Amino acid sequence: MEAKDQTAAGLHFVGKKEELIRAKRSFRTLEDRDILIIYHEGVFHAVDSYCYHAGGMLQNGDIEEINGKMCIICPKHKYKITLAEGECLYKGKDPREKHPVTRWYSKGVKQRIHVVTESDGNVFVKLSVSPAWIESDYYQGEKGKEERAKA
Ligand code: FES
Repeated sequence: MEAKDQTAAGLHFVGKKEELIRAKRSFRTLEDRDILIIYHEGVFHAVDSYCYHAGGMLQNGDIEEINGKMCIICPKHKYKITLAEGECLYKGKDPREKHPVTRWYSKGVKQRIHVVTESDGNVFVKLSVSPAWIESDYYQGEKGKEERAKA
């Protein structure tokens, strides 16, 4: 694809594949949005860089598989966010069950996830255009940025 076609398609060049694999985590600002590109176990992911909960830096979070889903663990309060969907997972019991058992539940999509594509050794990110508010949007706006700067 020609460079002008990539721009028209909303694709942002974020780096050479080899360079991003070596870095494992790369921070980029695209259209005023701070995002984190992660390479983990052969897969690229792109997520909003600041945790939806209180703006924690996901760049420093560990990655673990939880309930069959790859998650980044926010270093600030240990919330678990799936890399593929941006769902927050938590462990709990359903008190309505006769014999409640601890299991994983989802709080729903909280972190905005972006699309990563590769072409000829180049990696591109297309920002999510989902119009619905996703909680991590807060830390990409002015108020959220001020709040993070004070923390
Ligand atoms: Fe991420 Fe609280 S800021 S868990």
